[in-house]
Amino acid sequence: MSSSRWYRTSPPAKLNLFLEILSRREDGFHELDTVMTAIDWRDELWVQHVAQPGVRLQVDWSPDRASVAKAMQVSEDDALLHVPTDERNLVVRALQRLTDALNLEGGWDVRLHKQIPSGAGMGGASSDAAAALRLGFRAAAEIQPDKIAGVDRRLLTGIAAEIGSDVPFFLGISEDDSSAEAARATGRGEKLSFFSLANPLHAVVIFPAASVSTPAVYSRCTVPEKPRSSVNFVRALQGMGGESRFNMHNALQGPACGLSSRIDPPLKWLSDAGLTDCQMTGSGSACFALASSSQHAANVAETLRSTFPGGALIRSVVSCVVPSEIHIA
Ligand code: C5P
Repeated sequence: MSSSRWYRTSPPAKLNLFLEILSRREDGFHELDTVMTAIDWRDELWVQHVAQPGVRLQVDWSPDRASVAKAMQVSEDDALLHVPTDERNLVVRALQRLTDALNLEGGWDVRLHKQIPSGAGMGGASSDAAAALRLGFRAAAEIQPDKIAGVDRRLLTGIAAEIGSDVPFFLGISEDDSSAEAARATGRGEKLSFFSLANPLHAVVIFPAASVSTPAVYSRCTVPEKPRSSVNFVRALQGMGGESRFNMHNALQGPACGLSSRIDPPLKWLSDAGLTDCQMTGSGSACFALASSSQHAANVAETLRSTFPGGALIRSVVSCVVPSEIHIA
């Protein structure tokens, strides 16, 4: 049995406010201590259950590929604008895994409007995958309720962790009952403590249209003898004192800058614009800086857009306090 209903949601991006490497594991991953917040830079994802097995994914850029290419000063054929539509896309993998785990009949038609740049360290692909799990589960509950009966929602968390280190974070912050927009993540990123920020964070984000390989960045990082802990940083974000909330850190920034010369300049532009609390997010290449208010962030973003000498996407953003709702049509 299939449904003609489309389930839609708007997966958010994230920024890593703190990222420390604790150790290198035997499986090739690294133990981390990282703090992430979701931001209001979102993709849009539609999922429909259909009788035909398999996952068919259509991707387009919103507003459109030409204007995104122009903003980044890359060609429309640039690899940065090509999001795979086969199993390399985490959305496809997520729905395949969900279908198998729930033993569902039929398959999925999926549409993805990209706004979050890929290869940016903003978690766009992971967030899309988490959203696909939520939408797929919701659709399955309606059309094949017998397959869902007795299934623990922790099944989704397990699938999320298998798909990618950042996927559990996006699944957690988007839960219907979540009021948190941030989390401390340890392990390889899947052990999460969610929390609410005492104040919304306003930031300017620059994507310098550089592609850096995540495994390459991790392979260049060194494990510090005395890793920093995010405990006081988290307390400060929660408004409970401790370390200054502006004491941000990203242990992957040095290795990423060694791989691409396009990461240092945006960091300099941000600090020249007076935003000194700036760093790269995740494994890059997007960089961001904290601003004192939404107006401040909007003003700096506007100034940088008019003076930026190279290609880039520049936006002012705010940490998300609203879970990404599911709409049904
Ligand atoms: O989990 P994900 O697929 O996002 O990881 C991509 C790559 O990043 C891994 O293959 C690994 O090289 C590196 N990584 C890591 N330690 C982590 C997360 C990612 O070394 N905690």
